[in-house]
Amino acid sequence: MKRLYYYFIGMMCVLPIQRISAETVEISTPNNTLALFAKPGTSLEFLYYGEKLSDTDLRSFADSQRAWIAGYPVFGMYGPQETALSIIQNDGNATAEFKVQGVEKNDDDISSITTITFEDSAYPVTLKLHYRAYNEVDMIETWSEIVNNGKKPVTLTQYASAYLPIHKGNVWLSSLYGAWGNEGQVETEALTFGMKEIKNKDGVRNTHFSHPEVMFSLDGKPCENTGRVIGAALCYTGNYSLRIDTDFSDYHHFFAGINEDNSAYTLKGGGTFTTPPVALTYSGEGLSGASRNFHKWGRKYKLAHGDTERKILLNSWEGIHMDVNEPELAQMMQDIADMGGELFVMDDGWFGEKYPRKRDDAGLGDWVVDKEKLPNGIESLIETADKIGIKFGLWIEPEMANTNSELYDKHPDWIVKAANRQLVTGRGGTQVVLDLCNPKVQDYVVGIVDNIITKYPGLDYIKWDANMNISNYGSQHLPMSEQSHFAIEWHKGLEKICKRIREKYPEITLQSCASGGGRVNWGFMPYFDEFWTSDNTDALQRIYMQWGTSYFFPAIAMASHISATPNHQTLRTTPLKFRADVAMAGRLGIEMQPKDMTAEEREFCSRALADYKKIRPVVQFGNIYRLLSPFEHKGLASLMYVSDEKEKAVFYWWRTEHFVNEHFPIIPMAGLDPNKNYKVTELTRIDNVPLRVEGKVFSGKYLMTHGLDLPYGHNVDSDKRNSYASRVLYLEQVDGYND
Ligand code: DGJ
Repeated sequence: MKRLYYYFIGMMCVLPIQRISAETVEISTPNNTLALFAKPGTSLEFLYYGEKLSDTDLRSFADSQRAWIAGYPVFGMYGPQETALSIIQNDGNATAEFKVQGVEKNDDDISSITTITFEDSAYPVTLKLHYRAYNEVDMIETWSEIVNNGKKPVTLTQYASAYLPIHKGNVWLSSLYGAWGNEGQVETEALTFGMKEIKNKDGVRNTHFSHPEVMFSLDGKPCENTGRVIGAALCYTGNYSLRIDTDFSDYHHFFAGINEDNSAYTLKGGGTFTTPPVALTYSGEGLSGASRNFHKWGRKYKLAHGDTERKILLNSWEGIHMDVNEPELAQMMQDIADMGGELFVMDDGWFGEKYPRKRDDAGLGDWVVDKEKLPNGIESLIETADKIGIKFGLWIEPEMANTNSELYDKHPDWIVKAANRQLVTGRGGTQVVLDLCNPKVQDYVVGIVDNIITKYPGLDYIKWDANMNISNYGSQHLPMSEQSHFAIEWHKGLEKICKRIREKYPEITLQSCASGGGRVNWGFMPYFDEFWTSDNTDALQRIYMQWGTSYFFPAIAMASHISATPNHQTLRTTPLKFRADVAMAGRLGIEMQPKDMTAEEREFCSRALADYKKIRPVVQFGNIYRLLSPFEHKGLASLMYVSDEKEKAVFYWWRTEHFVNEHFPIIPMAGLDPNKNYKVTELTRIDNVPLRVEGKVFSGKYLMTHGLDLPYGHNVDSDKRNSYASRVLYLEQVDGYND
């Protein structure tokens, strides 16, 4: 009955045709519109989300197209449907009923923020829903705020950032799942009756097993370059829950926000609870179109230094692991510089005095140089890098400690631990997580970075790692009555730390790493320049992982390194060209001991690095068009990046399967200008003779409607033949055939 009443209220506000109803709230970006119906004194209604509506459409909308569906369902008064918000009032009343009070729009330089304010009909609680629409990119960020205007506390048991109904039809969901070493795998499924939940409860790293981003393909099985797609990304570093409920109604109901499990939140009188934003985009150009929107928005407004080219680096981890020593580091620096690299990063193993980091069971927390390993300190390494003409970076894991550390000796009360319970440890049997709920610990973590940067002013780059989940659910700082706030407060602490560091050191390059790709999320990226995609550097498996990761994250941020064979994780042996051609589709680096390479391999790497420098602007700032998915298992995978002006493009083609008498498709390209002509140059060439297409000019139209016929293998001497094959083609616009 209540539901009917709600519908009836809605139906009474029919307005004369020809006017956009005053209650219709239009939230638009260049090509998208989200429309809501917010009549003062009633509940919010969802009207529309998709391709931008014209004024004509909007005029007719409220009269003729209303679906009578809630814009942000709350618990208690409207029947059994799933809800976004649930509040237990101080007197125990478990219902909420929010009525629109007003709508406000505020513009800043880059966006327009619409805020809809609601009051509860009986209790002193205000709800605000914010919608930030960007002026230049198709992205709307939305989040909620709950304000307790009363004197007594209320308890929040559900607090989704956003709710979006998606009309049933043939809707498919694409999401990412995986595990350590296998991150970013694509899961594609038709939405059927029941609840689908994508969740994380790790407490520290939220993207190993699943991701807080999804895409909905509205026209059946997802296609890369056609079809209507809605993309959503929760911009949060911590535990999340993304729920899609397909119920008896015409809609799939999508909710996204912090994971509320074991996290009931007591909101004190006068307090405000703000949820993290969900970024929404719509594209009529398939999954790749939605990815381009995420990438553009990310580079322009989210990612640290999204407009600056990334350096090509050598990271020491797979080369020497914790056997850090000055001569070898100096040799590695010289080698990467000789190959054309621009930065060297010293990974784990350089620190600890009383508890030196010889293995992974000691030293975390004591960020002082191990003088046994590096008698001349980091200063000397930076001097060497300077002389050689490259930059220097180092690894830290500042949110953690080992019980074998001076930090733990001094401050056992600074670590995450449940009262009256035994300590649970992680990596090395001694790793523990610092209690970031505690402001003193926050100061300490900021201090680590501060001290390092102050002490080593030449430092260019920090790899920030995090290798443990929360195993002990408890803060030694929070009162017992607030232990259920722990997961949330820990991440608030982390965010404060990141903000303080970025405010003080806006220039430093930061990599987000968490046992590989455990922290690839849009909550972290505003403070970080890039992420370590996975600890698995095997080129073949990386094709899959990078494919999935590219759904939401741009190549500029996706660290992708050429490593040694047999690969340390899969033990697979792949040719160097294949490894380079895969790594060149992201932010290129090297991760091996160069002194183990042959002269021929070094020469090849030097060429690959030089080639990458030519295409770096297109890869790092261009628009992605994924062409053939490795998950289709057609034996090939292919994607390309195209510059904004469509005058340059890079086309990647990788063989992913090897069987005799296979027949591969010719892959039509995408994203080019059909009326432009493009000259083809193969990069990282190893064949004894050039490709037949080398130096030839083709129209964008031909390349996109047909594509280039490429040989399945490489024309190399017999001792160099193997089953792997890959191509990287550079396309440059030319005016005439001979340009
Ligand atoms: C995990 C990271 O993912 C690796 O790249 C490396 O930095 C190790 N930690 C070091 O302990």
